[in-house]
Amino acid sequence: MPDIDDVRQGEKVGIGVPQQTDTTLLKGLSHLDWGMKDRLSRVFDRKSGKTVMLAFDHGYIMGPTSGLERIDLSIVPLIPFCDCIMCCRGILRSVVPPTVNKPVSLRFSAGSTILTYLNEECLLDIEEAVRINASLLAIMVAVGDPKFEGLTINNLTRTVDLGTRYGIPTLGVTAVGKELVRDARYLAMACRVCAENGAHVVKTYYCEEGFEQVTNTCPVPIVIAGGKKLPELDALNMAYRAINEGAAGVDMGRNIFQSDNPLGMMLAVRAVVHDGEKPEKAIEIYKGQRKK
Ligand code: 5RP
Repeated sequence: MPDIDDVRQGEKVGIGVPQQTDTTLLKGLSHLDWGMKDRLSRVFDRKSGKTVMLAFDHGYIMGPTSGLERIDLSIVPLIPFCDCIMCCRGILRSVVPPTVNKPVSLRFSAGSTILTYLNEECLLDIEEAVRINASLLAIMVAVGDPKFEGLTINNLTRTVDLGTRYGIPTLGVTAVGKELVRDARYLAMACRVCAENGAHVVKTYYCEEGFEQVTNTCPVPIVIAGGKKLPELDALNMAYRAINEGAAGVDMGRNIFQSDNPLGMMLAVRAVVHDGEKPEKAIEIYKGQRKK
């Protein structure tokens, strides 16, 4: 209880000292509300402005794929070394300890698997995202899909509306169907469609030719998926090029958890993303962590 007999006038008013204004390092996001920025600042490293997200949500469309058979054994030990985890609520609740204290990019849409036709998805309840304290809502967006383009863009806009209500940003995940080419023209369009519909961050694939066209025409940060497993040096090269061509980080799964040395690969990817390490040097980090 403050003593009402001793109310002193404050004098340290800092005349001549401009009030400090924290500017976000993330492009296109400076006008967001406090809760949104708080969550994004947990996902993106304060110093580098980049992120290494560890994706292990694959099971929701493909079951126990290689490297994800036992997430408690393969993934949980890696979690301390990433900036954010990307997963589904089922695995989160059943296997990931709530004490890991990492921001969660929650798969917020689901509905079909690789056995039928992907992208016919519905949304989770927004209260579910609040309950698990999600920092990002990840939504599949299938631009150009002849059956479900409209449904997935609808899901994206609805998610942005729901997330905005609670201060949770949306991650638009560009889903590339088998029949679509992952070139710069397509990826630039898909990313821009996500951003125009309100996605705060966009996840897409790297392309060898013209990736800068993709990052430069997307008004919000882009993170790249790793895609199918590559030789470690190739994966590090891809991450290095993506960062240097404007990506704000990686949301990587198979190239980490399917490596013969997942921890070494995780640390090598971090060196590339956060410290700008060249792939030829980062590969030494991977080798240094190699199990005997
Ligand atoms: C799976 C996904 C993954 O999150 C995404 O593809 C990243 O993983 P990878 O680096 O293995 O491609 O969307 O449904």
